[in-house]
Amino acid sequence: MTPNDIRLDGKVAFITGGAGGIGAGVARNLANFGARLAIADIDAESGERLAAEIREQGGHALFLHTDVNQTEQIHTAVEQAASHFGRLDILINNAGGVRRTPFLQQTEKSWRKHIDFNLISTLTATQAAARAMIAFGHGGTIVNIASSEGLRAAPGFAVYAACKAGMISFTRSMALELAEHDIRVHVLAPDMILTPGLAPYFEAAGEDGRAARDRYIPMGRVGSTDELAGVVIFLVSNLATYITGLTLPVDGGAIASSGWTRSPNTGAWDLYHAP
Ligand SMILES: NC(=O)c1ccc[n+]([C@@H]2O[C@H](COP(=O)([O-])OP(=O)(O)OC[C@H]3O[C@@H](n4cnc5c(N)ncnc54)[C@H](O)[C@@H]3O)[C@@H](O)[C@H]2O)c1
Repeated sequence: MTPNDIRLDGKVAFITGGAGGIGAGVARNLANFGARLAIADIDAESGERLAAEIREQGGHALFLHTDVNQTEQIHTAVEQAASHFGRLDILINNAGGVRRTPFLQQTEKSWRKHIDFNLISTLTATQAAARAMIAFGHGGTIVNIASSEGLRAAPGFAVYAACKAGMISFTRSMALELAEHDIRVHVLAPDMILTPGLAPYFEAAGEDGRAARDRYIPMGRVGSTDELAGVVIFLVSNLATYITGLTLPVDGGAIASSGWTRSPNTGAWDLYHAP
């Protein structure tokens, strides 16, 4: 084993929602470590800009305008990526998102939309990419981006949380089904990674809200997209060839704390703080 085993030279990665937020952070870092990138996103302007930025820095990147709610568009994008680069090694199922909606106010149409975006898109991309990896015969790695909400209750986000829990379960089954093809499958459960998707919640919280948020996270701060990308790089590299089916929180300790927070007055840890 050498330090070069963390490098991804020659590998091809396909990432959904790769034009912004966590996806863009992961895409930039995959490229920094040598991977060639297919960025599939609905936002053509940001996606083209990021692909051009990676190419200007000597990397290889292709933007593919894709709405992950449209199954056919995912299949087409995976085929285009595989035929453009001549292989496919890495799939990052990252596109997804959430809006707070109490379940009793949701309609069947709205929860089906959530499920398409947050779960069905992952099933579709996984099948398309795994079939391509198997046809190329070189194995691969799939990393799904779920959420801490897939590991706990999430009032106001019930359908989103159910989708993310589904992603976690799906990951474990895929790890087993795809093991014989040397395709490893993992799922990350992020929390409080600073992205445009989360920014409105942070802004709405105000100063007191931000302080409370930082107390909720044991490490006392939000995470960066680079910190999440580092975990992805490790998992898709040759340093992690004997791991599959992992569910990994990337959350500053939020899931480990499971309800324990620090007192705003004394800084002491407790399950609840007297006023
Ligand atoms: N930021 C966090 O702390 C956090 C926490 C838990 C889970 N997550 C998960 O991480 C993933 C990325 O979150 P983020 O915070 O970076 O989100 P974001 O909203 O900042 O970025 C999402 C990206 O997906 C793209 N996108 C949106 N709709 C699309 C569609 N229909 N088809 C293709 N692309 C589309 C957007 O253009 C954007 O580039 C999501 O699955 C989210 O659920 C994030």
